[in-house]
Amino acid sequence: MKIDPMEFRATMGCYATGIAVITTLGDQGEPVGVTVNSFTSVSLDPPLVLFCLDRNATSLAAFDAAGRFAINVLAEDQQSVSARFAAPVDDRWQGFDWYPGPVTGMPLFDGCLASMECELHAVHEGGDHQIIVGEVREVRPTRQGKPLLYFRGRYDRCA
Ligand SMILES: Cc1cc2nc3c(=O)[nH]c(=O)nc-3n(C[C@H](O)[C@H](O)[C@H](O)COP(=O)(O)O)c2cc1C
Repeated sequence: MKIDPMEFRATMGCYATGIAVITTLGDQGEPVGVTVNSFTSVSLDPPLVLFCLDRNATSLAAFDAAGRFAINVLAEDQQSVSARFAAPVDDRWQGFDWYPGPVTGMPLFDGCLASMECELHAVHEGGDHQIIVGEVREVRPTRQGKPLLYFRGRYDRCA
């Protein structure tokens, strides 16, 4: 039986997630970043994580080519950061401070709950998305606080 896409989306929306901005560097060394809620852990040994990226995403080529990426886990007061890295604008980084991660050089920024630096481990086909798997090289829980959540297609917060 064919699954209705809207019903599928509404059903998956019942599964609450956090939100992360995944970053890399483009071929000119420019920062690239995209908001995702498909980030999850995969394996403890070796330490693997994944996120799923739309095959039409403009950032896809940069993630494939760079071979490294960083994960910035958003806190509840970073909804505007999520919106910034999901918006179709020319330069998401304009007026936005970042610094290179000490291990991979991939872009990190302040105010997140945690960050990780990864080497690209594998890329798998996943229908209209690519499943991008990274091996974690560095972990950094950076501050206390609550996460920004995504639930039923909307931003949410812990009570
Ligand atoms: C809360 C939230 C979660 C998202 N999760 C994903 C995701 O997991 N994968 C994805 O490809 N796009 C996701 N998006 C959409 C991208 O952020 C958006 O399409 C972005 O413009 C893609 O950027 P790009 O085309 O520059 O790569 C999400 C957006 C929001 C607001």
